[in-house]
Amino acid sequence: MTTTPDWIMIGGDGPESYNQQSSYQRALLEATKDKMTKAISANLDLDLISNRFIVADFGCASGPNTFVAVQNIIDAVEEKYRRETGQNPADNIEFQVLFNDFSLNDFNTLFQTLPPGRRYFSAGVPGSFFERVLPKESFHIGVMSYAFHFTSKIPKGIMDRDSPLWNKDMQCTGFNPAVKKAYLDQYSIDTKILLDARAEELVPGGLMLLLGSCLRDGVKMSETPKGTVMDFIGESLSDLAKQVHNLIVIVLYNCISTN
Ligand SMILES: C[S@@+](CC[C@H](N)C(=O)[O-])C[C@H]1O[C@@H](n2cnc3c(N)ncnc32)[C@H](O)[C@@H]1O
Repeated sequence: MTTTPDWIMIGGDGPESYNQQSSYQRALLEATKDKMTKAISANLDLDLISNRFIVADFGCASGPNTFVAVQNIIDAVEEKYRRETGQNPADNIEFQVLFNDFSLNDFNTLFQTLPPGRRYFSAGVPGSFFERVLPKESFHIGVMSYAFHFTSKIPKGIMDRDSPLWNKDMQCTGFNPAVKKAYLDQYSIDTKILLDARAEELVPGGLMLLLGSCLRDGVKMSETPKGTVMDFIGESLSDLAKQVHNLIVIVLYNCISTN
């Protein structure tokens, strides 16, 4: 059983909220719209598009990117249906969207800011996506956008100063290989659990769309623009930690490197 984390995306609509601080993630959704449309057009069986079509977003946060993700999917399904049947999807298909995140996620903001004029019914699905959160065969297309990289926990030893796995380096450059391996091992375990759970919940022939940032094989994080920024932040945190000898800084850094 996965426990609820002691961190959560900041809800509401204030200056530090996820809603106001997620334009980077939103750019991914805009950049991949065409690819998503093509993937759905090529891989979704027309027989699955019937009177009731269910879309699920795992790790939806409190908005607004989730609305873009699910709308992109609905647009693609409708386009395929219109093209291949010659019929108007609005006459025949009812869409439902299942929004999943931790129970502490700000679902109030999510539901209060649902796009006006949307053509789907909505429901919240609280719980960790590292477990079953839906009945068997209950959705046709699932999406995870900037959520597939999460692990279920910080690997053992990472925050223990006496462990060889202690993550004391605050930069991508010079990252301790044992730390990297610990995260990789945890990620392998978590990914299997996550995909097994979705395989049961997905309607046979349905699709899972996994969106996020990746590195090509052989490219180090420290060689990318994002890695360079992380290194600067790491160096600043490192200096701060040396000055204040405050464990909180280490804890904070470990949260950043997990996410
Ligand atoms: C970076 S946000 C992405 C939100 C949104 N999908 C987007 O594209 O902007 C990652 C979301 O995944 C959620 N998340 C992380 N681990 C999770 C888990 N085990 N179960 C459910 N949600 C999880 C977080 O709470 C957070 O809301």
